[in-house]
Amino acid sequence: MGQGYGRDIESNEGVNVSNQPGIHALDVTRRHVLKCSGAAIAMLMGSHALGESTASGKTLGFTPVPVSTSDTLVVPAEYVAEVLYRWGDPVGAAEGAPLFKPDASNTWEDQNLQAGMHHDGMSFFPIDGNPRHGLLAINHEYTDDGLLHADGMANWSADKVRKSQAAHGVSVIEIIERQGQWHVMPGSRYARRITANTPMVLSGPASGHAQLKTSADPTGTRVLGTLNNCAAGDTPWGSYLTCEENWNGYFSAADQPTSDDKRYGLRPKGWGYRWHEHDERFDAAKHPNEPYRFGWVVEVDPMDPMQTPIKRTALGRIKHEGATTTRTQDGRVVVYMGDDERFEYIYKFVSRDKVSPGGYAANKTLLDHGTLYVARFEADGHGRWLALVQGDNGLTADKGFATQADVLIHTRQAADVAGATPMDRPEWMAVHPDTGEVFATLTNNSQRGQPGRAVDSANPRTDNIMGHIIRWREGAAKGGDASATEFRWMQFALAGDPNANQPSHRGNIKGDMYGSPDGLSFDAGGLLWIQTDVSTSAMHQGAYKNMGNNMMLCADPFTGETKRFLTGPKGCEITGIAFTSDRRTVFINIQHPGETASERSDPADPQAVSHWPDGAKGGRPRSATVAIRRRDGGMVGT
Ligand code: FEO
Ligand code: CA
Ligand code: CA
Ligand code: CA
Repeated sequence: MGQGYGRDIESNEGVNVSNQPGIHALDVTRRHVLKCSGAAIAMLMGSHALGESTASGKTLGFTPVPVSTSDTLVVPAEYVAEVLYRWGDPVGAAEGAPLFKPDASNTWEDQNLQAGMHHDGMSFFPIDGNPRHGLLAINHEYTDDGLLHADGMANWSADKVRKSQAAHGVSVIEIIERQGQWHVMPGSRYARRITANTPMVLSGPASGHAQLKTSADPTGTRVLGTLNNCAAGDTPWGSYLTCEENWNGYFSAADQPTSDDKRYGLRPKGWGYRWHEHDERFDAAKHPNEPYRFGWVVEVDPMDPMQTPIKRTALGRIKHEGATTTRTQDGRVVVYMGDDERFEYIYKFVSRDKVSPGGYAANKTLLDHGTLYVARFEADGHGRWLALVQGDNGLTADKGFATQADVLIHTRQAADVAGATPMDRPEWMAVHPDTGEVFATLTNNSQRGQPGRAVDSANPRTDNIMGHIIRWREGAAKGGDASATEFRWMQFALAGDPNANQPSHRGNIKGDMYGSPDGLSFDAGGLLWIQTDVSTSAMHQGAYKNMGNNMMLCADPFTGETKRFLTGPKGCEITGIAFTSDRRTVFINIQHPGETASERSDPADPQAVSHWPDGAKGGRPRSATVAIRRRDGGMVGT
């Protein structure tokens, strides 16, 4: 299936044909970047330019692990990692919940009550402030239908489509630590599965717009399900934000795709999920507005299993990777978001209203009112947030933006018009808990440097297969507010292997090597955690020859010191990161262990690459949430 599967791969199925120039105030070639020194280095790489101290004050207090090609999860010797919640494990919603069958013969009805596939973004919500008892909300990004069904995609049927749909979405599980071990609570009143068929509401400025209306929903306000839930976020009022990334892959477009189809990557006959063959709503030739109802950030109240999830149209329609929140000095919320595709953009949303005490109930409409911005990185280290507001920045009726709903439904096109900087696949964002500085992963872009796609100082390498991490501080000067419309930026690290043959693949990491950074999060103490997603087609080959399996690392954001904390089993991605509020446990997700280069398993040989976590006699490889603790009970990473 490769890139045809339309998933979390280095894809460009939705083509940014705007040919939006990048940073062109200064023609920064790779040669320039690699040779630049002194003041230029300080601007691009150093920390002085943002007024930081270079003194760390932090200790990466663990024994780093080497690269690995083994089919095991490896953590430092002073840590223990325990599998908590695997694909197919009962969500805990009901007595007698169906157990996982290793031959994948569970029905779609079973799957509705079990962990979905391919865990991704995740957040921990303590109950009554208890760091050892709480809820985990976990995204299930997509399915490998070669593993999901006993006979794979043979005899394709409506029931197989339903099972695939049931394996998407979100799990909410109640977990508790007893005697140093985490457990999923059976029969929890919080337990919930949200799937591709769960009723949801569309709210905000685009709600009810003509383009959101379908024959099944003439109001344009109600939609079934959420798709390709990749990274995530949580809000200051305790809700979970799940993000719809490569939703385009589920639709079959009309034979003559629209310009919007092309911009977002819908194509006739779809990308291989084959849902449209048995569920007409995914046939966009018959239901042309259904795709407009996906590509949103969805708000879930994890504490209320009866809550109707809400698609927040004010946050724009893109291939949403994640939604990382912070607060302005006057108490409003800011949401940072990436659009993960080659040459797409970085966004932020600033709410109109202040966060109120009183949890979700008191902030139910906060994400419906505010301003969406897109980032423009200038070559001199400054940047601007361009408001995507109808009437501003060229977003006028004659360009197709007659209303704010038009801007939000066609966010990518609006960002093109506004003049945003095309980036090397924006994935996660993380906000430093003390300084408010924002870090963002740009996972890779092998097409950077091709004709019409020049490098720039924000995306400085041709054939950027290794990716990089950029950082910025809001405001024109130190102490700026998260609502600022200016920022100052620099690179944090260019990823790579210092022994790679090609200089542009070597990078400048201060410490242990990695490539294709994706997951990114600060813990409350200000350590930066980096997770990698090297595609299985690139893993162990070429410049990735010595890099081993995907991994998680920890970095000091001030000094750049980086140590490898964990390596995953074969064929997996490391993603999803959530700390308990006492920082004594970190939860991570192992996604798609055993993935083959084709990205779809052979049902006749499901263990071809991996049998993690259940072992050779355990059946198929299974994505899983893992709890990691220090053996001495201390704080993780310190
Ligand atoms: Fe699903 Fe871009 O990661
Ligand atoms: Ca993924
Ligand atoms: Ca990702
Ligand atoms: Ca990725």
